[in-house]
Amino acid sequence: MTFRNVKEYRADIKHDLNDIEAQKTSSSKKTLTKKLLLIAFQVCVLCFAGNTVLNYSFSSETLRDRSKATPTELAYLQILDDTNYAGKWSEKLTSVPHLAGQGIELVDWTASKFEEYGLTTEVEAFDIYLNYPVGNGLTLLSNGEPIYQANLTEDVLPEDSTTGGDDVVPAFHGYSASGNVTAEYVYVNYGSKEDFDLLEEFGVSLKGRIAIARYGKIFRGLKVKFAQEAGAAGVLIYSDPGDDFFQEAKGDKPYPNGPARNPSSLQRGSVQFLSQFPGDPTTPGRPSQGDDVVRDDPYKSIPKIPSLPVSFKEVKPILEKLNGHGLKGSTIGGDKWVGNLLGFDYWTGPNPKNTINLYNEQKYDIVPIHNVYGTLEGYDPKSGYILVGNHRDAWIKGGASDPNSGTAAMLEIMRSLHNLTQTGWKPRRTIKFASWDGEEYALLGSTEFGEKNGEELKKNLLAYLNVDVAVSGRKLQISSSPFLNNAIKETLPLIDYPLQENLTLEEHFFNHSKINILGSGSDYTVFLEHLGIASLDVGFGATAEDPVYHYHSNYDSFHWMSTMQDPGFKLHNTIAKLLGTLTLRLSEDKIINTKVSDYSIELAKYYHAIEANVPQQWLNITNHRGKPLIDLIHKTNVKLDQLATSGSAFDDYLTDLNKQWDGVDSLPWWNRIKLHFKIVGANFKLFYLERVFLHEEGLKDRPWFKHIIFASGKYTGYEGFALPGLKEALDDTNIKDFVHWNKIFLHTIKGLVDSFDRK
Ligand SMILES: *[C@@H]1O[C@H](CO)[C@@H](O)[C@H](O)[C@H]1NC(C)=O
Ligand SMILES: *[C@@H]1O[C@H](CO)[C@@H](O)[C@H](O)[C@H]1NC(C)=O
Ligand SMILES: *[C@@H]1O[C@H](CO)[C@@H](O)[C@H](O)[C@H]1NC(C)=O
Ligand SMILES: *[C@@H]1O[C@H](CO)[C@@H](O)[C@H](O)[C@H]1NC(C)=O
Ligand SMILES: *[C@@H]1O[C@H](CO)[C@@H](O)[C@H](O)[C@H]1NC(C)=O
Ligand SMILES: *[C@@H]1O[C@H](CO)[C@@H](O)[C@H](O)[C@H]1NC(C)=O
Repeated sequence: MTFRNVKEYRADIKHDLNDIEAQKTSSSKKTLTKKLLLIAFQVCVLCFAGNTVLNYSFSSETLRDRSKATPTELAYLQILDDTNYAGKWSEKLTSVPHLAGQGIELVDWTASKFEEYGLTTEVEAFDIYLNYPVGNGLTLLSNGEPIYQANLTEDVLPEDSTTGGDDVVPAFHGYSASGNVTAEYVYVNYGSKEDFDLLEEFGVSLKGRIAIARYGKIFRGLKVKFAQEAGAAGVLIYSDPGDDFFQEAKGDKPYPNGPARNPSSLQRGSVQFLSQFPGDPTTPGRPSQGDDVVRDDPYKSIPKIPSLPVSFKEVKPILEKLNGHGLKGSTIGGDKWVGNLLGFDYWTGPNPKNTINLYNEQKYDIVPIHNVYGTLEGYDPKSGYILVGNHRDAWIKGGASDPNSGTAAMLEIMRSLHNLTQTGWKPRRTIKFASWDGEEYALLGSTEFGEKNGEELKKNLLAYLNVDVAVSGRKLQISSSPFLNNAIKETLPLIDYPLQENLTLEEHFFNHSKINILGSGSDYTVFLEHLGIASLDVGFGATAEDPVYHYHSNYDSFHWMSTMQDPGFKLHNTIAKLLGTLTLRLSEDKIINTKVSDYSIELAKYYHAIEANVPQQWLNITNHRGKPLIDLIHKTNVKLDQLATSGSAFDDYLTDLNKQWDGVDSLPWWNRIKLHFKIVGANFKLFYLERVFLHEEGLKDRPWFKHIIFASGKYTGYEGFALPGLKEALDDTNIKDFVHWNKIFLHTIKGLVDSFDRK
């Protein structure tokens, strides 16, 4: 079922509602006895049916470390050993337009692929307030006379077909404000909160001036936010070669002839204020769908001042004019303030002789964006479902890394699962897939979906597995809720690292990395941080050995991917194996695959890290009952210890249940039913474990973020922080907030201890 437009979609919603009404009427006629019989029957089917049998023969020897894989996982991996279509998908996906809301051809193609792979497919539209570029310009003036004009275009490369043509996406920022500003300008380093604070401290004013920031460290929208708060009239953001591993200055050739950054490359991207809230800026917390949407003032989460991205080649003549003016960057912030753009000595400016004219014209409108959903029905649909998601929109014509490496991997997962279903196999839990639109602007498609279906998702979605950039380098990176750590740890040894012989992903990953926490910047945000649903994100990221990844630039192309980054698409194939096997671990295990102690251990670590930063002089400060803060901290630690104990006792109980379930066939029927209900009880607790961390009022000044353990950093955007309430209280040296958030945390831990103490 696909809808080509909002009208068709709405007609269908009505149809669905009628269906639901009809079912309600008919079901109310069922007698209670009939219902009870039905429930008893369903329970028995589940107790006796067990797994559907996988009838599959293996063509090549299984690898040494696959000894712990289930037959289903072996069959799944085998298909991806035998065949790899990721390159084919990448070539297709990078050859059609896909700016948010504009890729209807790709919506259709994606939906048809979902259908081809046997998924029940739907397309859903949301109506979003967003911008498309109309015009831009950047001129350097000397004493008011133009002396240099930047093109704001990336060089067209004959060997790289998506770098040219009428349909290349201009240099612009998603959600930037229109404006035509002529002003003095100041170099602001990365444009972080700390950088602007330093400038203020050193007396370099941004009032009415244009801030020039380099990319990196924090989410770009926050650079614009902080500039706006400092009184700036506009912002330029450029990619400094000093932030790259490979540099022309070190003798490396630039793309397409070598691994260094192409000097004309520029980074598009959104300047929305990601850490305030994602989604349509006019409908925080509510879905943007239909004619009667109530829309707020968007400026709580988007800037009022214009901004543009620019290449280092084109910003160089502008920055050079600052040499000798203002303060030397190194005086303000040492090495941290100095990049490696040859010719620029990293002075702050301004230079009273030179101004720039920054011209940015954006057209804002309410635009339909389209998500595509696919469902592979499980045989035990009441046990919750798994959602695998990836976004489809890109800033550029190509987008081989972002997001199409993830899309190619997701299609490969579907293809292999489809192959399994051909033998009669069905997953236990339903597996759903989502192709989100508008991720690049503000995680639009996923956020609106989450805001619309929050209650249903909280009840039924066991886990959300995200893949955005699957391949931009060779180093596996995993960020996850600790809820999924066990599944991750069990899955990694089953898969080979393709770039080194005889090395598993486990060895590759744990040799250099650990599982990170989630922040923001991709579609898991609404699931974890707004709805409290365990989520993860995987992909291969860049290292010092990888060619520079031209993020959001025309050079993130099929040509770059297939010649330089992942020839043979082996890393793509590996992500499909990893994410698909993870999906199976979560969908197939009767008892939800998690360890309570994975969470309790991490919680204690997060709290200890916070505790270590509490100012000594706070510890003896007493509350109105005369109790010092140290008592509260002590109490929290005691509770965390109790959680560690009851958590691992519960894990032992789960191990025991799992053993009993393995031998279920030899149990008499009444014991099967008893065991089934024990498992249902344990699963119920596990299912809601992550939801326990939701705090309805949300975080301070940003109520959309409701998870008290993880949030996007207020001042970083992408980077996440554990225990954000406590962390921000420390950042703001606000003891009252600290006590407030500590109490909420303590209360939550108490609840968990009580829940896991009772079996
Ligand atoms: C399933 O995969 C196997 C092994 O890769 C292949 O031989 C077979 O043709 C596939 N079947 C379908 C229905 O795609
Ligand atoms: C701008 O584009 C023109 C024509 O493509 C080119 O000659 C010129 O060098 C470009 N300017 C810069 C600063 O890159
Ligand atoms: C921008 O403003 C300047 C005057 O400050 C004007 O000369 C110029 O034409 C404007 N640019 C555009 C594209 O409107
Ligand atoms: C990989 O393992 C195989 C089988 O154990 C062995 O024959 C081969 O030498 C190993 N290769 C490397 C590079 O260690
Ligand atoms: C592990 O990391 C070390 C240091 O980075 C490296 O020398 C070694 O080759 C790595 N081993 C594996 C198995 O990747
Ligand atoms: C806090 O109080 C305890 C006992 O009253 C005392 O030993 C300790 O030095 C005090 N610490 C600080 C930092 O004031």
